[in-house]
Amino acid sequence: MSKSSLIIIRTLLSRLSNGEFCSGQILADELGVSRTAVANYINQLQQLGLDIYSVRGRGYCFAAAITLLDAAQINIAQGAKRPQVLVHEITDSTNSQLQQRIKAGLITELGATIVAEAQTAGRGRRGRNWYSPFGTNLYFSMYWRLAHGMQAAMGLSLVVGLAIVRTLRQHYGVDAKLKWPNDVYINEQKVAGILVELSGQVDADCDAIIGIGLNIHMPSTATDNIDQPFTTLSQHTTESINRNQLIINLQTELIAILTEFSQSGFSCFVSEFNKVNQYQDQAIKVISTTEKVGICRGVDKQGALLLETTHAIEPIYGGEISVRG
Ligand code: BTN
Repeated sequence: MSKSSLIIIRTLLSRLSNGEFCSGQILADELGVSRTAVANYINQLQQLGLDIYSVRGRGYCFAAAITLLDAAQINIAQGAKRPQVLVHEITDSTNSQLQQRIKAGLITELGATIVAEAQTAGRGRRGRNWYSPFGTNLYFSMYWRLAHGMQAAMGLSLVVGLAIVRTLRQHYGVDAKLKWPNDVYINEQKVAGILVELSGQVDADCDAIIGIGLNIHMPSTATDNIDQPFTTLSQHTTESINRNQLIINLQTELIAILTEFSQSGFSCFVSEFNKVNQYQDQAIKVISTTEKVGICRGVDKQGALLLETTHAIEPIYGGEISVRG
């Protein structure tokens, strides 16, 4: 998409974001383009997942008022200085963008973050796509560095999950839980996923890209595009959700928790994890190279899942949990 198209789209979004109708002619005049061009841009936004109504005689309107991401608002230091947050309108994947900037030496500061309004090639775990419609959710990638290399990777994902849970509980009053190893749940449904990508040495310094996708308000078309049950933050809180403030809160919480994790390892987070563990003391099935059933007894001090079987309590280092039927 060209820069001028992006400017037009940004202007359209700001003009419509108050949730009121605006006619195609007024938009065309303000943007200096034809009404057909306006209709084409609106069509592109609808294809990116935005709920825009088009009503003959009234014009265009968002289904709900939205607050756009605002780099200036996010980067205003609130007391303490925080690492920079780059805001993209539409990008392939914030994880890929961050990776490219790190490789090019453009990002070196721990905690530096990229967010986007929409992703055209958002990535989930296990090669899945991450549905990333415009202006509604959070697509967030943050840079960190691990001194103990990939050995620390499992603990890293779990503390990232804890930072999301703390943010959702403190600022939105929701009973968020963690599904080991990488998902955040509200009311037994997934609200956020984590994709950590590492590059570097197994036992030395290693770059970590921490990707977080958090559902805030999904458009009505989402169910056609997501193949697993999901929920959104807005369904569970009465607090208003300003994504700019949410980014500040999440980045601050992540930096605090990762600083502690880098100094002391995962062991000091075991009891916090077990308190918010979605399946603590429940019968589960873990699918990895083989399927195992047992009772979930939380995690050990490396972050491995503890599964109590008829013979023993066994640590599990990778896999996915499903509830036993
Ligand atoms: C999962 O499969 O649950 C992990 C989803 C992670 C999605 C986020 S959105 C921001 C970042 N950029 C990506 O391409 N993926 C992650």
